Amino acid sequence: MDMATILVMLVAFAAAMGCIPTMFAATPGSEDGSGVKDNPSLSASSRGSVGITDRDAAHQKAWRTGEEASAHAGGFHTGSGSGGSGSGGGAGGLSVGFYSSSCPQVETVIEQQLRVILQANIGQAAGILRIMFHDCFVQGCDASLLLLRPTTELTATPNNASIRASSLRALDTIKAAVEAVCPGVVSCADTIVLSTKIAVKLSGGPIIPMRTGRRDGLSAASNQTVVNNIPPPTLNITALKQNFQNHGLDSRDLVSLSGGHTIGRAHCRFVDPQITPTISTDLNTAFALNLSRICLPANNPIKARQTTHLDFVTPNLFDNSYFNNILAKVAIFHTDAALTNASDTLQLVQLYAQNQPLFFQQFSQSMIKMSQLNVLTGQQGEIRKKCSTPNQFLNS
Ligand code: HEM
Repeated sequence: MDMATILVMLVAFAAAMGCIPTMFAATPGSEDGSGVKDNPSLSASSRGSVGITDRDAAHQKAWRTGEEASAHAGGFHTGSGSGGSGSGGGAGGLSVGFYSSSCPQVETVIEQQLRVILQANIGQAAGILRIMFHDCFVQGCDASLLLLRPTTELTATPNNASIRASSLRALDTIKAAVEAVCPGVVSCADTIVLSTKIAVKLSGGPIIPMRTGRRDGLSAASNQTVVNNIPPPTLNITALKQNFQNHGLDSRDLVSLSGGHTIGRAHCRFVDPQITPTISTDLNTAFALNLSRICLPANNPIKARQTTHLDFVTPNLFDNSYFNNILAKVAIFHTDAALTNASDTLQLVQLYAQNQPLFFQQFSQSMIKMSQLNVLTGQQGEIRKKCSTPNQFLNS
């Protein structure tokens, strides 16, 4: 019996036992099962994904073609803090326990908040993890993704209406709780990184020894900068490797970090290129037909808002089933399937599929590397009081 058959049987069994709602289930609405939905029509003055404008739609098309965006990506360099996962203290001005005297309770406060937030909606763990990725890949981990003023990255094509507004609000709640005990001490950039660390842990993943000491950026990146740096889900393996290399990340980082797709959801518009106009030969047929049932026709406005689990076997558990899925040709994005198209990345996928502790170990190292991209430290930037707003605009 081949791997795909075993997987399909496993999912059918889980569905029959009521472990998952339906085979290859669609997630309800645009959130993961809590009934709490992001509101795509909220304005930029409050927390919400902002509606797609015509200009953004044009960029989105370019982003979806993938190769074009990657071709722009060459100019991005990792900063002093990108130097990998070596042990010990300072890495580009960061250290483990940076707040041990200035705010020793920071992680406890974040964990208390997150336990409540995740209990209400476990999908927030995925939302927060993706926020960290999209923050760090664009002008470094400086919390610029959280800014709503004077400009915002949230309307940029790779973020628009897909970064969870409710996860942004969750981070605002966490930051407010941290400010209540340690006013003006902990940056929003560190709040994202520590919240991600704890969200991954609470979802069953590894405990990542993140360093802290990041400071917050003063301005958001442009739409073009976001498009140039966030890989679209249509990239082939060569372009995907190149995008990660541009951020100082190698194949081990690419494969292990892609394992972040073990939790969370995808909107059908990102899945559609796999199933229309024709079904990708990369996909298991039964799985592709179910995706078609969930997502097509693409021009149906209800289907366009529909989401599906990234890992339908254990959608909310941080584990290594993502790698078994893609070996069974059960891949949500072309970029997931593409990891099996180069011998080095295929070998890593096979290793992590067999060995969860090894995946967790590499994921931790790669997350630390990603968390140190182009960080601001020392006197650079500022410690924002409110993550949506640079301090100078707070009273205006
Ligand atoms: C390798 C290149 C990557 C591509 C092309 C990619 C693309 C995407 C896309 C298109 C979505 C769907 C968003 C939506 O429809 O709402 C998504 C979701 C997600 N991605 Fe990635 N991603 C990549 C890497 C990563 C990395 C490095 C991480 C973190 C380590 C990550 C974590 C997530 C998570 C957790 C979600 C679910 C978000 C949610 O449920 O709100 N991704 N990704």
